[in-house]
Amino acid sequence: MNIVVVGLQWGDEGKGKVIDYLAKDADIIVRFQGGNNAGHTVVLDGKKFVFHIVPSGVLRENKICVIGNGVVVDPRVLIEEIRYLRDNGIKVSPQNLKLSLLSHVIMPYHRVMDSFRESKRLHKIGTTNRGIGPCYVDKFSRCGIRVVDLFNREKFAFKLKDNLREKNPLFKEVYGRSYFSFSKIFREYLDYAKFLKPYCCDVVDFLYSKRHSRFLFEGAQGTFLDIDFGTYPFVTSSNTISPNAFLGGGASFIRVDKIIGVAKAYTTRVGEGPFPTEFNDSLGDYFRQTGKEFGATTNRPRRCGWLDLVILKRAVILNNVSEIALTKIDILDGLKEIKVCVDYKFPKGNKYAFVDLEGIKPLYQRIRGWLTDTSMVRDYSQLPELAKDYISFIEKELGRKISLISVGERREAIVRKE
Ligand code: IMO
Ligand code: MG
Repeated sequence: MNIVVVGLQWGDEGKGKVIDYLAKDADIIVRFQGGNNAGHTVVLDGKKFVFHIVPSGVLRENKICVIGNGVVVDPRVLIEEIRYLRDNGIKVSPQNLKLSLLSHVIMPYHRVMDSFRESKRLHKIGTTNRGIGPCYVDKFSRCGIRVVDLFNREKFAFKLKDNLREKNPLFKEVYGRSYFSFSKIFREYLDYAKFLKPYCCDVVDFLYSKRHSRFLFEGAQGTFLDIDFGTYPFVTSSNTISPNAFLGGGASFIRVDKIIGVAKAYTTRVGEGPFPTEFNDSLGDYFRQTGKEFGATTNRPRRCGWLDLVILKRAVILNNVSEIALTKIDILDGLKEIKVCVDYKFPKGNKYAFVDLEGIKPLYQRIRGWLTDTSMVRDYSQLPELAKDYISFIEKELGRKISLISVGERREAIVRKE
């Protein structure tokens, strides 16, 4: 069975936990887009692991984790992550972690560019400041540096010089910042290359040779952060939806059997941009505290709101979702009444809801809360009837089965529904 896992909202849906669960029955786990803007959390034996680049399947033994060509890699962060995992007793070696030679490398000027642009913009995006956007920009303007380039001293020197020739005067002129030093970056990145070399391979060849294995593709971010289909310009710089698994994984020859969309039982968003069901009262704080809604990457408080079935319907179509994993339903345990957005009221003249979510008014259906602790539930039959009603209401509206329900952050806090 080959599965693609994607986020159906604005990221932070609990993809890490779902991947960790599904990785049990997979051989190869592939990240296909984004970079260390992602923060995928898995809680194992009370210990919290946050993955930024390494696929979340790495905690399972005898799996191979792959970072595909569609990912932008900050080598400093990747090396830190590898070391951190090893220090915590997790096996990470060139045998179980592969990095595509075709992935683009995040350079120091990308990180600086990211924060400078943000600070100067009239319309802030609220990026993670990890250099993700600027790195993808260079990839598409064909001056990017790829992992493979780091292994050829002359080529790397040439490309880096070429970049600095353009970037240094630009930074100086526009941002008033002093020049980046060629030799400092050159030396630093050659060191990274030395460390990473054993992990690098032609991922297309590698995956093709393993094409009969069981694949799991790990999406990062979420559908409405997709560069084409999200709430542009408040999006990330890659395609986050399921079709990109092939492209960014370099694995078009894999037949996908299932696309699992991960949705939180309510909605959150970090950074700027429209969010129709956002709370504007104390419920926001309630969810932030109860659901620990603070960014796993930047620690920013997440904006919170009710579940929005209108965007989820769109996400089901965009990703061709076959099943849904619903996470964090335990966070709703203490609520007498839960609201779910079932439709939008459009402002005059807005015919294209998903071209511009601005100014939209959500129309809610009220649902009775179950007021029972679900966090210890491990079998679907043990869920309170009202929680089951909530789940079947969502299934009916979306026309898709909810096959996994997460009731807590720990690995074992998950319920399978047949
Ligand atoms: P995971 O994989 C939530 C958001 C940022 C910002 C916008 C652009 O953990 O779900 P970027 O740095 O990508 O240029 O920022 O996208 N963002 C995320 N929000 N979860 C993520 O990843 C995100 N990755 C980026 O907050 O609004
Ligand atoms: Mg996250």
